[in-house]
Amino acid sequence: MTKVLKIGGSILTDKNRGNAARFEEISRVAQEIASRPEDLVLVHGAGSFGHIPAKMYGLPLTFSPEGLRVTHESVARLSDLVVGALSRAGVDSLPVHPLSCLLLSNGRIDSFDLKPLRVMLKDGLMPVLHGDVAMDATRKAGIVSGDQLVSFLARALQAEVVAVGCDVDGVLLAGEPLAEITRSDLPKVEDAVGGSTGVDVTGGMRGKLQELLDLADMGTDSVIFNAAREGNIVRALRGESIGTRVRRPN
Ligand SMILES: Nc1ncnc2c1ncn2[C@@H]1O[C@H](COP(=O)(O)OP(=O)(O)OP(=O)(O)O)[C@@H](O)[C@H]1O
Ligand SMILES: [Mg+2]
Repeated sequence: MTKVLKIGGSILTDKNRGNAARFEEISRVAQEIASRPEDLVLVHGAGSFGHIPAKMYGLPLTFSPEGLRVTHESVARLSDLVVGALSRAGVDSLPVHPLSCLLLSNGRIDSFDLKPLRVMLKDGLMPVLHGDVAMDATRKAGIVSGDQLVSFLARALQAEVVAVGCDVDGVLLAGEPLAEITRSDLPKVEDAVGGSTGVDVTGGMRGKLQELLDLADMGTDSVIFNAAREGNIVRALRGESIGTRVRRPN
């Protein structure tokens, strides 16, 4: 039973300060993941390591070779921190950099060589992916968010648990998390769902919800939960419905 878990950059970094890793959180997250590491694909957000350089270089609208290099180097550093923390927690994982294995078309994942990732899973290694810059067949280059990766991987791998952790209790309406949301609820909540309080070039909660509603349209439910609350990652990995369930239409 394959699981896809995303840990938001909002947990692992301070999204208002460049390259500001939250080392204690990274290690706590790694320990929670270590309690249920089987058949798990981990995606982590870019946080300040990605969103801040991307914004500085005008990505994805501007084509900047330097911006692409600097942003990729930066998110790869965050990935190293996550893989290192997992190793210290006793989890064998390997980094999979989206820039090197997928191609976008018009900002959407067009092709993605999943074979190495499947072999990793088969051999008991946890693939660790992250929001990244990527080449784009129609616009030279772009950005692939961790949220888009979750949606794509969940479908491609037919994941049975899809959990997206961030720094809030779910999709909030008037300050309270919704227990569940379907596409037909969107008009009621649209005005309340915005970008990020930090720097985020991929749409904050609004972008996340769009990706997960697309996934639900294709038949796969997911949850958006607060990964800052201790124990929630373990619960999410057990398949518990915490936070907001993004549900397929009836
Ligand atoms: N209605 C809403 N409910 C919940 N969060 C919302 C809402 N509207 C806006 N947000 C913002 O969305 C943020 C979560 O999205 P954000 O993209 O910042 O986190 P992330 O995806 O974990 O980070 P990263 O993109 O680096 O992985 C929340 O911290 C909140 O500020
Ligand atoms: Mg985000």
